[in-house]
Amino acid sequence: MPQRTTSKAAAPQIKPAMLRKFHAALSAWYKTHGRHDLPWRQTGDPYRIWLSEVMLQQTQVATVLARFYHPFLETFPTVKALADAPREKVMKAWEGLGYYTRARNLHEAAKQISNLSPRARPGVHLPAQKKDGPRRKAGVTSSGGITFPDTIEDLLALPGIGRNTAHAVAAFAYHHPVAILEANVKRVVARIFAWETPKDEQLWAGAEALLNRDKPFDHNQAMMDLGSLICTPKKPACVACPANAICEGQQAPELYPAKKVKKQVPTRELFIHVREDASGRLFLEARDTKLLGGLYGFPQVSMASHGAEHLGTVTHVYSHFKLIGTVLHERVSAKPNSPDWHTRQEITALPLSKLDHKVLALVENCHSQQKKRSKEGPRKRPR
Ligand code: ADE
Repeated sequence: MPQRTTSKAAAPQIKPAMLRKFHAALSAWYKTHGRHDLPWRQTGDPYRIWLSEVMLQQTQVATVLARFYHPFLETFPTVKALADAPREKVMKAWEGLGYYTRARNLHEAAKQISNLSPRARPGVHLPAQKKDGPRRKAGVTSSGGITFPDTIEDLLALPGIGRNTAHAVAAFAYHHPVAILEANVKRVVARIFAWETPKDEQLWAGAEALLNRDKPFDHNQAMMDLGSLICTPKKPACVACPANAICEGQQAPELYPAKKVKKQVPTRELFIHVREDASGRLFLEARDTKLLGGLYGFPQVSMASHGAEHLGTVTHVYSHFKLIGTVLHERVSAKPNSPDWHTRQEITALPLSKLDHKVLALVENCHSQQKKRSKEGPRKRPR
């Protein structure tokens, strides 16, 4: 049974005595300075660990912690609860976190996990003996009954789980001796080996060479904390670093890895069409694009519709482009009989992107100003 995805790049050589020294120093540093109270480090539930890793793929720890992780788990406490939920509810719980493909994949993977009966999966086995990290009941999620995949191979087969997430779940929930490689760890590894322009394969080989195979939980969490607390992008605190006995990059850490030239993202300009019917309902379409599939939003068009009122512009920067939308408002005299028209109350329960929330805020703001003006009556002209 394959327990790790091995790197093809040549593994860097570290003398065993030096490696032991590094492991001891890292372990001691982590005991004192590690962020042990992060909730996903206090559980052995693979579902909770997996959720944290997916949320943390593109979002900062502070944001995930402050606004998303706990509410999501209150709504979907188990992988079964997530699998059984309607997509709209899952997307609503993800609203504001961005990169919505993550939520769609998470939901789909939860369905696949719930549909796997242990009997249909002879490869399922009890997890490795626990050696480090918090006390845990591994292997079975808090939903009881459902066996969470516990091999790298089975984890990788799920949508949205790549090598890093598979390794993180395997190391944190099951204590498999595998390395992880998220953004902070990439920087730590590049500096330890003084690599300016390493490829991912090379970084994986470096992370594996540094791994403390007896303590995969603590080691990997510590590497991330090292990257976020000591080996920071600017002004790293090398004197306080537990890797300073082996780090080849400490003379000029900011050279490693070399900064990538940021590509300028293109700008897309379009019209956003807000249609309001005679009873004040708004027209929203169910989006099905890769970027925003599963969310609802106001139609975006390349041509302005005739006779619509111009309310203003909204902007939003996505990872690959900047969008500038001119918001047009049009009143429809009828009350169309279609599920695409929603009352304001209904809209509060629908998942909308940040951009569509900006559009909605603009519409409401214009409405309230219009109301105010009509209450005040016609303005007197100054003499
Ligand atoms: N980023 C990704 N996984 C993380 C973890 N387990 N702790 C802190 N930051 C992370």
